Amino acid sequence: MTLRGTQDNTKRMEQETLFPQILPDEEFHKSGHVPPRRSNEFAHNLGELPVNNWFSIVAGYSGSFVSDSISNWALNKDSLLLDPFSGTGTSIISSMLNGVQGTGVEANPFHYLAGLVKTDWSISKDQVLERYIALKGALSLAVANDGDFAWSEVPTTDIKAHLSSIRARGANNRKTNLIIWGKESNVPHLTSWISPKVLEKALDLGNLIFSLEGSETGNVNRFVQLAYGSILMHVSNMKMHGPKIAYRRRKSSRIICERAPVYMLFLQKLGMMMDDLNSIPKNELDPHMHLGSATDLSHLTDESVDGAITSPPYLNEVDYLDNTRLELYLLGLVRSDGEMRHLKERLIRANTKHLFKTNRDYPDNLPDLDVFKTIKKISSQVRLKGKERSWGWDHPRMVAEYFVDMTSHIREIYRVLKRGASYRFIVGDSAINGFHVPTDEILGDIGIEVGFSKKLVEPFRSRGSSRHRFKLRETIITLTK
Ligand SMILES: C[S@@+](CC[C@H](N)C(=O)[O-])C[C@H]1O[C@@H](n2cnc3c(N)ncnc32)[C@H](O)[C@@H]1O
Repeated sequence: MTLRGTQDNTKRMEQETLFPQILPDEEFHKSGHVPPRRSNEFAHNLGELPVNNWFSIVAGYSGSFVSDSISNWALNKDSLLLDPFSGTGTSIISSMLNGVQGTGVEANPFHYLAGLVKTDWSISKDQVLERYIALKGALSLAVANDGDFAWSEVPTTDIKAHLSSIRARGANNRKTNLIIWGKESNVPHLTSWISPKVLEKALDLGNLIFSLEGSETGNVNRFVQLAYGSILMHVSNMKMHGPKIAYRRRKSSRIICERAPVYMLFLQKLGMMMDDLNSIPKNELDPHMHLGSATDLSHLTDESVDGAITSPPYLNEVDYLDNTRLELYLLGLVRSDGEMRHLKERLIRANTKHLFKTNRDYPDNLPDLDVFKTIKKISSQVRLKGKERSWGWDHPRMVAEYFVDMTSHIREIYRVLKRGASYRFIVGDSAINGFHVPTDEILGDIGIEVGFSKKLVEPFRSRGSSRHRFKLRETIITLTK
């Protein structure tokens, strides 16, 4: 395979992915490097509290959406606010800033980790500093030899030929056994996602971080793990395109990150996060973040929640687990294909690749609600539209099963909310096989059928798309018990 690199690409890629930043350490200033921030940060999150930017995902919303709800609902220090799809913690941070106890539920272990770290305001700055100094010492030689970014532009045809030659040799099915975070992992091929030299550095760095972990300071370990995880995308061959992960590409070519200053970026990110700790207000709140599914809130008792707010997965094929594949594998949060699949089975079925034989509900096992008559009709229409196309993912099934999962979820929310309390969420409608699915309206109707007494539907904004004849929208739905 021919690799064709140019200096220009290097410059442009750095500008594209990295933001300037006040660095904690003179040496890094001199190096001219800027630390990584993920390029898909939701604009409204910026400027609220620096911790929001440690790692965030697209399809979040502004903290002010949460603050407004808190004041409309007159929540106070004795109230409990739930975000059942807490992602990387936006709502819980906002509830803490408003002096309200928050609790989140999240199914992706890396998002959960980010949410946990970002909402743990009791962390000891002294202990973090101690760890930073130890890491900096252990990495001094590696940092000195870290080198610079080297990007190459490779014709897509070369990459395809290369990958199919690997496949022909059967190597693509082989997994590699690696020791990650102290345990053996059976890692699938990541070679198209991250270049071998960069991967090697990332693995070495992970092992070093692990070797310095102290068992008694769990939150310091997690803090460092988040710094590590949050730089991986920046040194990989991938980037976020809106809410979906994709290869870095230019017309008919892919941009490959061949070399990257992994150690230096990690230390910069850790230093930046350490700096941000100074902006965290004093607070007695101790939010509880739960790793699990929003379809099963059995850790919460009946009528214990004063308000719920979220942005659930939309019916739009975003794969929240695959988006963080590098972070999950390289932090040892997932150790095999089997574990990844197990996690996928737990997500709201908003992606055709998350439909398995083991979790089929369509068409025979749908909830006994009137709204499912409409949903079945929509699924049939989607099937008809799909017949015009050649590829065969099961979109009709996905549509129905998304609403099956969301029904279980809305039932659970109804159970845990106090009487008179509300559930407020932002959701988009969908276009499946070019067929419009009014996801927002249907979710509101499900709410009323499972027992909510009131439904308020407010337009939030429209979303342009060149792929459909119609404009998609986002809506705020408020269900009151
Ligand atoms: C639209 S995002 C939420 C974004 C969040 N408001 C933020 O600003 O970070 C949806 C989240 O739901 C999570 N998720 C998907 N299925 C889930 C499930 N069954 N239970 C809990 N979380 C789930 C995804 O991993 C993702 O983090």
